[in-house]
Amino acid sequence: MTDETKHGKPAPGPFDSAGAAARGVARGLTNYGDTGFSLFLRKAFIKGAGYTDDALSRPIIGIVNTGSSYNPCHGNAPQLIEAVKRGVMLAGGLPMDFPTISVHESFSQPTSMYLRNLMSMDTEEMIRAQPMDAVVLIGGCDKTVPAQLMGAASAGVPAIQLVTGSMLTGSHRGERVGACTDCRRYWGRYRAEEIDAEEIADVNNQLVASVGTCSVMGTASTMACITEALGMMVAGGASAPAVTADRVRVAEKTGATAVAMAASRLTPDRILTGKSIENALRVLLAIGGSTNGIVHLTAIAGRLGIDIDLAGLDRISRETPVLVDLKPSGQHYMEDFHHAGGMPALLRELRPYLHLDALTVSGRTLGEELDDAPPAFAQDVIRTAASPIYPVGGLAVLRGNLAPGGAIIKQSAANAALMEHEGRAVVFEDAEDMAKRIDDEALDVAAEDILVLKRIGPTGAPGMPEAGYMPIPKKLARAGVKDMVRISDGRMSGTAAGTIVLHVTPEAAIGGPLAYVRNGDRIRLSVARREIALLVDDAELARRAEAQPISRPVAERGYRKLFLQTVTQADQGVDFDFLRAGVTRDTVPKK
Ligand code: FES
Repeated sequence: MTDETKHGKPAPGPFDSAGAAARGVARGLTNYGDTGFSLFLRKAFIKGAGYTDDALSRPIIGIVNTGSSYNPCHGNAPQLIEAVKRGVMLAGGLPMDFPTISVHESFSQPTSMYLRNLMSMDTEEMIRAQPMDAVVLIGGCDKTVPAQLMGAASAGVPAIQLVTGSMLTGSHRGERVGACTDCRRYWGRYRAEEIDAEEIADVNNQLVASVGTCSVMGTASTMACITEALGMMVAGGASAPAVTADRVRVAEKTGATAVAMAASRLTPDRILTGKSIENALRVLLAIGGSTNGIVHLTAIAGRLGIDIDLAGLDRISRETPVLVDLKPSGQHYMEDFHHAGGMPALLRELRPYLHLDALTVSGRTLGEELDDAPPAFAQDVIRTAASPIYPVGGLAVLRGNLAPGGAIIKQSAANAALMEHEGRAVVFEDAEDMAKRIDDEALDVAAEDILVLKRIGPTGAPGMPEAGYMPIPKKLARAGVKDMVRISDGRMSGTAAGTIVLHVTPEAAIGGPLAYVRNGDRIRLSVARREIALLVDDAELARRAEAQPISRPVAERGYRKLFLQTVTQADQGVDFDFLRAGVTRDTVPKK
């Protein structure tokens, strides 16, 4: 019996396709109009690289390689890929790494955020286009992890996130330093003429002591932590520094887990649910996480039709204490968080706030993972709910006539003395205007004024730069002023601190009320009342709008044209409108 089965049907030939149910190398065949030929040709080409039929019969695990000479935050990618491959092969799979766009914060012009959605599209389409039964996403630097999760959520193939891990801290003249909270602090001291050119050059050598992501609770660390809370990473995978054996072991385990996910077809939509998104929001608040985290989480959730309600976020913020004592809200660094037990230790403290039945990449629930977490021990980085570093969540959502669609302040990193403040607006029309005038000795500005920067929102710059952390005008810095209320439609780095109102929505460049603020207007900030108010009456604002009509920025061609035409506002995650899910399936947090 060679050509016929005992049931009388022809036996499948070596190049017959199983159609939609195909696995491994037979998945997603190139369209030549003859599926048998497509598979025949594919196998012929891959055999040119020395693969055997045995290897090609295994489940294929794609590994997204975002290593790049332009991305030192991913400098350990080759070692991680090797460890993931080991894990995949030990579990019986065939690893196949492939490149996508890699985006580093300091090497992306105009901004990394401008490229996040492009990277997400690259990730989504390459996962979809190439045959893989599961995919390991290796990311780390700020925009890479959200881009990969957004892309993977849309592609619908089983996916697991591996982060590159944080960099080590350095030492400058006896003081421990790390990127990038200390970068900003030292630069502020240099601007204030507290340190000289020789010292600023010295510290420049010490701030980034190894490859890996920023060593504080900036956006990269925030995204790593909330990815573990989402269930999209192996337990304990968020915190191991980049150059440690722990990080390599996490990589090996990630590879093996990906093979199991391929077998059970554990797709992202089963893990990224309203419950897991709500868990991630709790963690974002409890770690004093980056304000960027809310933008990215909104974009990831939007890919699955899950909306994040800012009023609900503010409500749960009032009941979720900050427990992690890391810069910029606290004093420690990521490697200390890892030594203190990392995310399993934090999640154990947050247990009463979490949906423990949310599924994770292991196929088990978050509660089951926590039951198996290592035991607690004495440490001073992760506090208990009874003795938090800050009594309520790190973020507060503000509203008012200046931000009808909302604005965000990182209250845990703000100056308590400025959180209830009224002052005179000192206005900069855009980033260029600010760069030109902020240090002008003739600038009419005082410490109690409020700095306002327009047109750094999603379409304004474009790409919503992290310019919301406006520098203190030099003449005030020299006089010892460390913080002022600053308001913009842009973002700020997760490593920054200060009384800074961000993500004002709608942005000035599309005619949001921020566009009509003038020098000398009074502005009132009340974090207690969650208010950001421009003390100018509606009739006057309407007159200004009529006198100064604003139309949405446009571009002639290329990616910039696509970006400006389709990018959404901060409350929608700054995703492209056509990439969000077509229908809303859920809204979180629940009432
Ligand atoms: Fe890459 Fe900070 S610049 S994580």
